[in-house]
Amino acid sequence: MNKNKIPVVVLISGRGSNLQSIIEAMQHQQLDIDIKAVISNRPDATGLEKARAAGIPAITVDHQQFANRHDFDLALQKSIDRYHPELLVLAGFMRILGEDFVNHYLGRMLNIHPSLLPRYPGLNTHQRALDNKDRWHGASIHFVTSELDGGPVVLQVRLPVLEDDDQESLAERVLQQEHKLYCQAIQWFAEKRLILHQGQAYLDGNKITQPVIMDAKLDRNLTS
Ligand code: GRF
Repeated sequence: MNKNKIPVVVLISGRGSNLQSIIEAMQHQQLDIDIKAVISNRPDATGLEKARAAGIPAITVDHQQFANRHDFDLALQKSIDRYHPELLVLAGFMRILGEDFVNHYLGRMLNIHPSLLPRYPGLNTHQRALDNKDRWHGASIHFVTSELDGGPVVLQVRLPVLEDDDQESLAERVLQQEHKLYCQAIQWFAEKRLILHQGQAYLDGNKITQPVIMDAKLDRNLTS
């Protein structure tokens, strides 16, 4: 672990359990990041309380206050750029971002999505996996590009769908894994091991042609 902590801004829309796990890993010195601010597009996002409890500035840019997506994106960008982040972490951020916004942060914006992309971009991923009787499900970390949930996937966790799973039980098991998964990808980025170059993701200088798979059974130690 190096001592240079990169400035990070986290975007949320809701409960912020991923945010909480990132905050805790940061507090335990497992991540070389400094979360400068947490920004929500919804004033009632409970994740804002989690940020405040950790002493992190918690800000709302309410999308409902703007006439159109472009104006919202510009206001959001302005709020973010005050903190000069090297990395923007989307953690349950539920607004579609416009092309200008995405290009502004290209290569320095990660998202977590609760499915094995490219399967199930968009919403209701757990129910769709159950409806299709998938044997495997999981979560993905990807660089954000202007294609919805379509940027290069860098890391995934896979877990088996159990016979008696319903949407809630599956979502809960995936969520537990998401927390470890996101911390791993963020730390790779902070260590400059994970980069996006000309639309292609690289880890340790190698093209990521297939996402790295984290085994749900392994509790990997971030510092190893
Ligand atoms: C997670 O399942 C994440 O994959 C998806 O939205 C959910 C956010 O949960 N993008 P939380 O707010 O981090 O608890």
